[in-house]
Amino acid sequence: MNQTINAIQNPGWTPTSWQQRVALQQPQYEDAAELAEAITELAHLPPLVTSWEVLALKQTLAEAQEGKRFLLQGGDCAESFADCTSPIISNRLKVLLQMSLVLVHGLKQPVLRVGRFAGQYAKPRSTDTETRGGVTLPSFRGDVINGPAFTAEARRPDPQRLIRAHAHSALTMNFVRALIDGGFADLHHPEYWDLAWVEHSPLAAEYRRMVAGIGDSLRFMETLAGPIAGFTRVDFFTSHEALLLHYEQAITRQVPRHRGWFNLSTHFPWIGMRTAALDGAHVEYFRGIRNPIAVKVGPSVTPAQLMPLIDALNPEDEPGRLTLIHRMGHAQIATALPPLLETVKREGRRVLWVADPMHGNTESTSNGFKTRRFDNIRSELDHAFDIHAAAGTHLGGVHLELTGEDVTECMGGARDLSEVDLQRAYKSMVDPRLNYEQSLELAMLIVRKSQKG
Ligand code: PEP
Ligand code: CO
Repeated sequence: MNQTINAIQNPGWTPTSWQQRVALQQPQYEDAAELAEAITELAHLPPLVTSWEVLALKQTLAEAQEGKRFLLQGGDCAESFADCTSPIISNRLKVLLQMSLVLVHGLKQPVLRVGRFAGQYAKPRSTDTETRGGVTLPSFRGDVINGPAFTAEARRPDPQRLIRAHAHSALTMNFVRALIDGGFADLHHPEYWDLAWVEHSPLAAEYRRMVAGIGDSLRFMETLAGPIAGFTRVDFFTSHEALLLHYEQAITRQVPRHRGWFNLSTHFPWIGMRTAALDGAHVEYFRGIRNPIAVKVGPSVTPAQLMPLIDALNPEDEPGRLTLIHRMGHAQIATALPPLLETVKREGRRVLWVADPMHGNTESTSNGFKTRRFDNIRSELDHAFDIHAAAGTHLGGVHLELTGEDVTECMGGARDLSEVDLQRAYKSMVDPRLNYEQSLELAMLIVRKSQKG
């Protein structure tokens, strides 16, 4: 029954129909039988999220499209199995909660929180191989595929990692859900989310003022209305780049009470910029799932390319279905973004526009670090708000790479980190992330920007 309905709505689509298209950024597994065995095992394991949650998120994203909510989506560029630890998970959750508190307070709007976690284990790479000292090995593609160490053994794509990625995602999900359900995210107790820095940060006073303001409003409302259940817990959803299609396919399921197919490895998968070709395998896979989905849009995308992509991924113009995450770079956003906004608006298509001010602003320093300048990130975000305002469209959220740790990967910010500082605590295996202080500062800047208009 479900299968029939799906075939009618998505002609020719099955969870494996992507295999008939060109699939970029996939590893070359040596042993097809070993891969098939891992996929079969994965397909029998329970899912990580439910269709009810997925549909609830779609509904909430539809509200963000209407300007009634703001989306905060953030987390590591790449999660690693080694970082699946209690402090790293809880610190990341804390910084996202703190940022959302700042945004709720400043924007006077509900914030929709989506983590880039519990599955962000696959990375697109610019080259298939890496050469060091005359030795060439496969590039590191994320922990779901191979290991980061530069040895033949670590770099071999290992199908057993599909199972380990599912397990680590489940461990992460379980801990996040338990923290949230147990009261960690209770608005009456923002001190639960304090990170050590709040004591000595230049931003501490401003953050404390906001927390006190929210506490006052909460007490005032509860004096009038009694305890308000919604403030004792918040919703948290997960997302990742659904890059490794064998993994995604194995966790694509049908469920008893909802039609069609759901990717139940995450609530909100997205297609990365490098794999968003209209005739490619990723677009084929995504068109058939019922999740809300996102696509990263870079500066080379033209309106003539974007419109067929919207038609393929959201032919019915369903509310909440499609988010476009633009990542143009601070220098290109003013020319690259307006034509896309104008076309989508003119065609009357329903999308949620979100700004990723990180990925278009990556550069290398003279001492060999991949970094991003806080000022460039901020500038892209400022431009994004202005450009949307001028186009009469709505910027409904931000997509950030960040961590709750005290890393030094992006330059600038309130402590003005320099090239030299990058050596102190550069931990990212892939892209440079905002540290907790830079993340919070960005949330405060978003509020100031929106208040200035
Ligand atoms: C990412 O989000 O880590 C990423 C690779 O982004 P993009 O596809 O925009 O390069
Ligand atoms: Co990244």
